[in-house]
Amino acid sequence: MGVVPGGGSAPAPQSHPGRIERALEGGPYRGFGETQDPGTHSVPGAPEENTRERPQGSGTRPALQGGRTFYLETFGCQMNEHDSEKVAGVLLARGYRQVESPEVAAVILYNTCSIREKAAQKIFSRLGEYRFTRKEGQVIGVLGCLAQQEGEEIFARAPWVSLVCGSASYRKLPEFIKELEAGNTRVTGLETDTDETFETEMTRRDNPWRAYLTIIEGCDKACTYCVVPFTRGPERSRASASVLEEVQQIADLGYTEVQLLGQTVNSYADPSARRMRFSELLVAVAEVPGIRRVRFMTSHPRDFGKDIVEAIEAVPALCDHVHLPVQSGSTAVLRAMARTYTREEYLEKIAMLRGAKRRISITTDLIVGFPGETEKEFEETLSLMDAAQYDGAFSFKYSPRPNTPSLKMEDAIPEEEKSRRLGILQGRQREIQIARNARLVGEVFEVLVEGKSRRENQWMGHTSCNRVLNFTSRGEEILGHYVQVRVTGAGPNSLVGEG
Ligand code: 5AD
Ligand code: SF4
Repeated sequence: MGVVPGGGSAPAPQSHPGRIERALEGGPYRGFGETQDPGTHSVPGAPEENTRERPQGSGTRPALQGGRTFYLETFGCQMNEHDSEKVAGVLLARGYRQVESPEVAAVILYNTCSIREKAAQKIFSRLGEYRFTRKEGQVIGVLGCLAQQEGEEIFARAPWVSLVCGSASYRKLPEFIKELEAGNTRVTGLETDTDETFETEMTRRDNPWRAYLTIIEGCDKACTYCVVPFTRGPERSRASASVLEEVQQIADLGYTEVQLLGQTVNSYADPSARRMRFSELLVAVAEVPGIRRVRFMTSHPRDFGKDIVEAIEAVPALCDHVHLPVQSGSTAVLRAMARTYTREEYLEKIAMLRGAKRRISITTDLIVGFPGETEKEFEETLSLMDAAQYDGAFSFKYSPRPNTPSLKMEDAIPEEEKSRRLGILQGRQREIQIARNARLVGEVFEVLVEGKSRRENQWMGHTSCNRVLNFTSRGEEILGHYVQVRVTGAGPNSLVGEG
């Protein structure tokens, strides 16, 4: 085991043992191996932890129980998780205290996801729980994509909600909360045509090892199945100097790993006179003293150029992992999805990545059962998977979403057929991952140690290529350090090893 001297001491003030334990159970720290939905897991203060504390009696004003307190639950993607870190930071700075149970909170906030119907349903059922249990004076707010998508409809469906606010309006959250405190019963923030990004000095970071940073908000790509352009608005990039300043602050906090976020992160367009390209920004972030790993997600194939591969080849701190959603292996389906590339063009990007001087892991997103998808077109997705040899994939059944162009497309695929295709696709991907991971046995990887198991000498962390590695080590105090681990075994979704 080689604990790298000076490499990544645990950022103590951020430490959050509860979450580290959960990391070992495959919580929000998942690697990329899984095929389940990355967009519907919940983060801190998960509900199962809350039910135990249900206070007796009702009608007590929460202010009497907990003063200015808030409970925040997050559904959805990493962008949402990170938005929640910012929302929490803003509220903490205003004197609020975060509680782990909605029952004792003065303000209950749900940061929501609406990417697929299941995610939206889950939130409405969670809101439904408050119909009878909500206490007088308790504020219930819906933030995020479902808020933006449903707007004031939410008040109609759940009249006990008093705040509805989409991500493009988060800058105004403190104002909105002031209005609610002043006695206003319904407040909305639903604009999307804003140049603003939600930048704040006050981010409260939940992940003790990986600091998230949004560099581009919204999306201009208009894929025909996707709600994001409606819920998060048009693309807005942050000025490179502001990004680099925040990276420096992150490093000063003790973080060594940073993940740049954006729905289409590589479509970054520096609005400042510096006009830094995305690949230049990656290199500049990696050069910030203290930063040792830089990740970025999600890349759109159209804007994925050779310059990004060259940056990864040249700068070891840029992690050797690219998430490059393909969605379908059929050019006809890709056209119907308005993905702006053909199967062949996508495979050229894969060839470029596979031909890099440094080995780069590639992961993807896939949709089965898009309207009109024929059996042959589905098989083209399977053959593309064989050709691309993904190291991980998130796969989904097509879910019709409000406002999207694909909603009106004919030839919907029956649910059972979508399930059948998804099962086949996931089975194929599992085989690919088993084979790819097995080839790594015997290799040594550098791991950032992120979790300690209850079992003696058992640890977990991520490799630069974003694989989860569970390993044994007699080392002490290695949490937050970089260690060298030899892989001794491999499953479809993770590796095991010895440090
Ligand atoms: N149905 C199914 N999957 C979807 N995604 C986005 N919109 C839909 C939808 N309507 C998937 C895409 C995207 C990932 C984040 O979610 O694969 O890359
Ligand atoms: Fe949605 Fe397409 Fe934008 Fe991704 S690129 S967020 S799938 S519209």
